[in-house]
Amino acid sequence: MLNLSPKQTQFLQRLRHCHSIPSLREFCQQEQFEFNFLKGLLSSGFLDSYVTVHPLSDTTPHWQLTPKGEGLSPTLPGIRLAQLLLEGQTDTSRLQGELEEAFGTEYASLKNLNAIDWQPGEVGKRIQILSVTELEAIQARQELFCTLGSQPQPLTSPHLAVLEAQGLIVAVNPDDYAVEALPAMDTLDLKPMVTTLTSELLLSGRWREVDLKPYPIDDEAPYVPYGRSTLLTQCIERVRDIFLNMGFDEMSGSILESTFWNFDALFTPQDHPAREIQDTFYVDRPGTIPLPNDRVLIEHVQRVHDRNYGGHWSEQEASRAIFRAQTTTFTARKLYALKGRTGKFFSIDKVFRNETSDRTHLHEFYQIEGVVIGELLSVRNLMGYLTYFYERLGFKNLKFKPTYNPYTEPSLEVCVYHEPSQRYLEVGNSGLFRPEMLKPLGCGGCSTIAWGLGLERMALLLYNAEKLSDLVGPDIGLS
Ligand code: PHE
Repeated sequence: MLNLSPKQTQFLQRLRHCHSIPSLREFCQQEQFEFNFLKGLLSSGFLDSYVTVHPLSDTTPHWQLTPKGEGLSPTLPGIRLAQLLLEGQTDTSRLQGELEEAFGTEYASLKNLNAIDWQPGEVGKRIQILSVTELEAIQARQELFCTLGSQPQPLTSPHLAVLEAQGLIVAVNPDDYAVEALPAMDTLDLKPMVTTLTSELLLSGRWREVDLKPYPIDDEAPYVPYGRSTLLTQCIERVRDIFLNMGFDEMSGSILESTFWNFDALFTPQDHPAREIQDTFYVDRPGTIPLPNDRVLIEHVQRVHDRNYGGHWSEQEASRAIFRAQTTTFTARKLYALKGRTGKFFSIDKVFRNETSDRTHLHEFYQIEGVVIGELLSVRNLMGYLTYFYERLGFKNLKFKPTYNPYTEPSLEVCVYHEPSQRYLEVGNSGLFRPEMLKPLGCGGCSTIAWGLGLERMALLLYNAEKLSDLVGPDIGLS
């Protein structure tokens, strides 16, 4: 199948209709085609099986005006005087009066053609006509001259040679061709080919009748990014990668949790301020979550609480449903499941706190939880793990400050040095779990180190963002 442009198709449709074109030039003039366009098409070899093309040698000469001729057009020099002479006016002074300053050039032209004779200076004399035939020839040439322009025209006339000799016209012998349709032409599918699909084509339904230029689907298209992970997700992936490479396993759990796993199993007294409604999101439906079906565990937890915090521990208070306020709930459940076996675990998950969001606080945020359960673990091991972890993220300078946690002793606040702001920023909390917490969960013989680190704070540092709203929400302008 041929890929034809609309104009090419139009030409072939015309040719199929008339079968032969005796002169391509004449055809172009009559049918409003561009000669060079069709000549190019026919000589490209593209249509060789459908048409034959014969160059024409004995064509009528084509004439066009030279620049000099164009300057004079449409009046030949000498014609005005020749006309007056043929009308019988030969009186020199009358002719001079009529032609005014043109008289000189008119006279010189006819003199050069040997049509007249005159003795200058003899006032009152008449112009003597040498050749009437020559004067009439000028008239005939004037008629020809009027019809010529800058486009070559086929003309035959003996008068043209004089105009050519005067430098007013030039012969251009343009090539021309006879074109004939071959029988194969009838097999061509000559629906017009459309290169641009317009709304007009679509709306009118005419797209069904035309041939659309095929779309080159193998061409390389520019790359258009279609989406990517948010900065926070990228950050989560980096952290996950580091812990997995350190040999940690990932743990996770439910958002809806009982206060038992969030607080009581973590040796947090039932009147601790963190449990108050201003800090923790309590859930109405379900209002409670059943305690683990393990009386030994429940009673052990109760005994530890009663002994250390006074005898008020209530199962009802421990069954209240909340949105987890820390991912240490995963750690507590993991310790209970391991029953003294060792291991290294991490999680990166959301926690929920009843706080007002501001530049550096959110009411839901990610915690990076970690726990190592082994033997003879110390503060040095804890500091070692955290130093290694932060170093992998590019934070070289760490500080640990003593702090308080109900379930760890000692407890260490983790601060990293932030180069751009030239200060240490608090990024997490850590410690060694107390025996009061470990024993009821069945891990009394273990030593542990554990941490809970803020992800968003760290992301602020990593991406040099100013406030948390730069990292979360619909409008993240960072790249
Ligand atoms: N759960 C603590 C918090 O939310 C962090 C922590 C985890 C501290 C484990 C010590 C050990 O801040």
